[in-house]
Amino acid sequence: MITNDGAVGVGLAGFGTVGSGVWNTLARNGGLITERAGSAVKFEIHQIVVRDPDKPRAASVPTELFTTDWQSMVEHPLVEIVVELIGGTEEAFELVAASLGAGKPVVTGNKALLAERGEEVFALARRHQTPVYFEAAVAGGIPIIKAARESFIGNQIDLISGIINGTSNYILMRMTEAGLDYPTALKEAKELGYAEADETLDVNGWDAAHKAMLLGAIVHGFLIDPDEVYVRGIEYVRPLDICFAKDLGYVVKLLCIVRQHEDGSIEIRTQPSFIPKTNILASVNDVFNAVAIRGDGFGDALFYGRGAGQDPTASSVVSDLVDAGRSLREAPKGGNQGFLPYRKKGTLKPIDETETAYYVRFPVTDRPGVVADIASLLAKAGIGISGTHSSIVPDEPDAAFVDMVFLLHTCPFGTLKSALKAIEDLDCVTERPVVFRIETL
Ligand code: HSE
Repeated sequence: MITNDGAVGVGLAGFGTVGSGVWNTLARNGGLITERAGSAVKFEIHQIVVRDPDKPRAASVPTELFTTDWQSMVEHPLVEIVVELIGGTEEAFELVAASLGAGKPVVTGNKALLAERGEEVFALARRHQTPVYFEAAVAGGIPIIKAARESFIGNQIDLISGIINGTSNYILMRMTEAGLDYPTALKEAKELGYAEADETLDVNGWDAAHKAMLLGAIVHGFLIDPDEVYVRGIEYVRPLDICFAKDLGYVVKLLCIVRQHEDGSIEIRTQPSFIPKTNILASVNDVFNAVAIRGDGFGDALFYGRGAGQDPTASSVVSDLVDAGRSLREAPKGGNQGFLPYRKKGTLKPIDETETAYYVRFPVTDRPGVVADIASLLAKAGIGISGTHSSIVPDEPDAAFVDMVFLLHTCPFGTLKSALKAIEDLDCVTERPVVFRIETL
């Protein structure tokens, strides 16, 4: 490890997958970083906060660096930058608040903390004039925060569309390619170590939504209230809908959308959606992530890469460390001060006013007039039908129950919801209709 005098002192909280990746990356590339960033930018890790100092570790770390006491790490006189990798929103908040209070810049990969408690964290950052860096919080090894914050600083951003949860992307891919049902695909993702031990946030959409909220905050300048964000996960995606999507030329992806409308309002949502097979995001498979950004000037840009994992995420942490180190050593009165929200509040577009085309599957009793009954209620709501589809089981041409799919023209989500309420009351509709947005992007 780097031990030169004058090195930038680092305290690391959390030494799991990403923390040990940071240690390894600095050990491997510390010299290269100093060559590139200048002789003042060398790092020395002085303390590492862990739960169990006696646990055997893959990385060869001097055991005297381990401590269980994050407060003493933050207060350590040689620690100048604090890296928070413990996750969660309670203790991590205390740790980040203490670091900022002590004037020590924070590097974090904690999307939940910043999306749920960003208001408090950034207020502290502002009050103590101490930056928070969070490249590792969004899309692992893809440098999307830097791109959004710095590379596109001179552009209006109209649309961000992203696949930013690798676990759900893997599960949907396996359901699509191998015809697995959701529980089997989830089990496989867990066995391969892709899903977190508690996979809740991966599959209920919130991990991706947190990341989308951070991207939205960067490009639109205000923190987004999680209570106002529309989030649906992949737990209820059924192989039947994936099959229908395939038949119709689409793939199902957990898609995040952040769109600026002409009236200045921001649409932000995360949900499993149909995207055309021909769209570049349709070929993002496995645990990979991709973020497409559209804005004035540059037009379209696409970022693709590994959204999770030890080395990719550590790469983003180290990049932030270098920014923080440079600011401390080379530009103490300026330099890269990370991101601070520059608007107090913006207007989010209510979900009922957001518009797309739709796929709606109605499980119905197959009696004469079913299609006409549904179509007439859709017509009454002013919703156009662009196509219909149904599965035919060759052995059961007279099956009593069928799934009727309607492809609907673009309309506000609220209009669709009201129409579906009326349709659900029809005696022939046996279960709640299943809705997917069709995104044209
Ligand atoms: N569990 C996340 C994913 C990575 O599957 O993409 C960390 O946010």
